[in-house]
Amino acid sequence: MDLDPAHRAKIDHLGVAVPSLAEGLKLYRDLLGFAVKFEEEVATEKVRVVGLDSGDSVIELLEPTSDDSTIAKYLAKRGPGIHHIAIEVQDLAGLLPKLAAQGVQLLDSVPRPGARGTKVAFIHPKGALGVLVELVEHTAGSRH
Ligand code: CO
Repeated sequence: MDLDPAHRAKIDHLGVAVPSLAEGLKLYRDLLGFAVKFEEEVATEKVRVVGLDSGDSVIELLEPTSDDSTIAKYLAKRGPGIHHIAIEVQDLAGLLPKLAAQGVQLLDSVPRPGARGTKVAFIHPKGALGVLVELVEHTAGSRH
């Protein structure tokens, strides 16, 4: 695959599934010292998100707002924990067909709206060595 030589992938955020944001904030903010960078409800994902500032990247605490949200199902099945790793990429719409052509199993064949005005798509854990990987493209105004 041909990547822009100037491009260096990096972790955009870690998504951590929590039963409640209060519980997550007690640990990460109050005891470990992370500062809250943003708080947002993502209606399409049925989650409330608190983003904790970690320099170039963010830890996102994800609390379900509905029993049928993906995060609620994850918590019911596996309990709290690291839900996904998000990697910042460029030209997400162009990257997805390249990944698909290489046999990487995608959950999204086209980008969809993510938190903070980003565009996102997920790689199935089966296509990413057991990790749910979110690909994130920042747009004007989404930079954290
Ligand atoms: Co995410």
